[in-house]
Amino acid sequence: MERRPLHLHLLLLFFSAWLLLLLQGVSSLQFRRDDFPDGFAFGAGTAAYQYEGAAAEDGRTPSIWDTYTHSGRHPEDGTGDVASDGYHKYKEDVKLMTEIGLEAYRFTISWSRLIPSGRGAVNPKGLQFYNNMINELVKAGIQIQVALYHSDLPQSLQDEYGGWINPKVVDDFTAYADVCFREFGDRVAHWTTVLEPNVMAQGCYDTGILPPNHCSYPFGSNCTGGNSTVEPYLFIHHNLLAHASAVRLYREKYQVAQKGIIGINMYSLWFYPLTDSAEDIGATERAKQFIYGWILHPLVFGDYPETIKKVVGSRLPFFSNHESELVTNAFDFIGLNHYSSVYTSNNNNVVKAPLQDLTADIATLFRATKNDTPTPEVITDSIVSAENY
Ligand SMILES: *[C@@H]1O[C@H](CO)[C@@H](O)[C@H](O)[C@H]1NC(C)=O
Ligand SMILES: *[C@@H]1O[C@H](CO)[C@@H](O)[C@H](O)[C@H]1NC(C)=O
Repeated sequence: MERRPLHLHLLLLFFSAWLLLLLQGVSSLQFRRDDFPDGFAFGAGTAAYQYEGAAAEDGRTPSIWDTYTHSGRHPEDGTGDVASDGYHKYKEDVKLMTEIGLEAYRFTISWSRLIPSGRGAVNPKGLQFYNNMINELVKAGIQIQVALYHSDLPQSLQDEYGGWINPKVVDDFTAYADVCFREFGDRVAHWTTVLEPNVMAQGCYDTGILPPNHCSYPFGSNCTGGNSTVEPYLFIHHNLLAHASAVRLYREKYQVAQKGIIGINMYSLWFYPLTDSAEDIGATERAKQFIYGWILHPLVFGDYPETIKKVVGSRLPFFSNHESELVTNAFDFIGLNHYSSVYTSNNNNVVKAPLQDLTADIATLFRATKNDTPTPEVITDSIVSAENY
């Protein structure tokens, strides 16, 4: 079965979950609005590349997603050139949100629309678009949640220094975040720095199915560059440092006046061991560490989990004292994009070697039902089919 890029799954969290709730909930489970606590917001979300379109308009430059979809590698052969045309239709969309009673809306900002060279000059047309959209949401009384990054690094930074695998990205991300906080922060309730880095590591830098399509032989396929044994770890390391650096900036410079909160988002599945064998229980614990612990352990304790350190060894970057202090407690909330639960079993078919890839490090097979064909990739077919709701 064709595995669709997980980029498309962002909407799933919001829509399929609520659709299911509506389909089952109303008739049998009988949830009511007042079953949910005060302050619980029902909302929806979009990602810039899926939503805005106007990919080459008003000064926007390509991101790594534009490059990917235009390379012909995308299984559905589509691009975000027009997408939902939100760049032109955001007013109608806010009207629709009001009509369906959305209380909150999360969107992402296109870095290369706001700062076309990745760093430096701000694009006035980009600034105006986000200000206009935010003001429209304010008028509609919809709570605004913004994510700074969803897989759409400016291509210029990818070309210049390799993007997320280079520590230079930390300063550029922080400067980009600074522009966003300064220009939009007076109206934004929740800031999410990055979306789902924990699973992007595998798709973007190990198997290479997602942009920037990095992998290295014999791992992944058809990649033109990359290193599946080390780049997934550099990617997460720099995501954590960029996140924490933006959080520190927000707290020091903006939070008191703007009164928002800031956090990170993770892809989430829950894992059940396929059998009660020690191997499958071990694989389940390992999967939890690679999905949750990889991000959460540093944010709580300032270092990677022991399981990951042991498995990855010298391929794992380490936090200096200063970095460890930076990441510790660098969140006001943790966002979960939750998809489904899966069965997990030990993957006996990985070659154990000092230079194995992330997939071999996880060494776990995932399946949606006990009868499904298992896959070593975290994105499972259950998610792909759930997308069809
Ligand atoms: C890799 O490239 C070959 C030749 O273009 C193609 O047949 C194959 O489907 C590609 N594999 C993937 C996973 O994209
Ligand atoms: C990946 O990086 C490791 C560690 O630097 C190195 O030993 C290995 O040769 C690299 N592999 C490739 C394919 O470049």
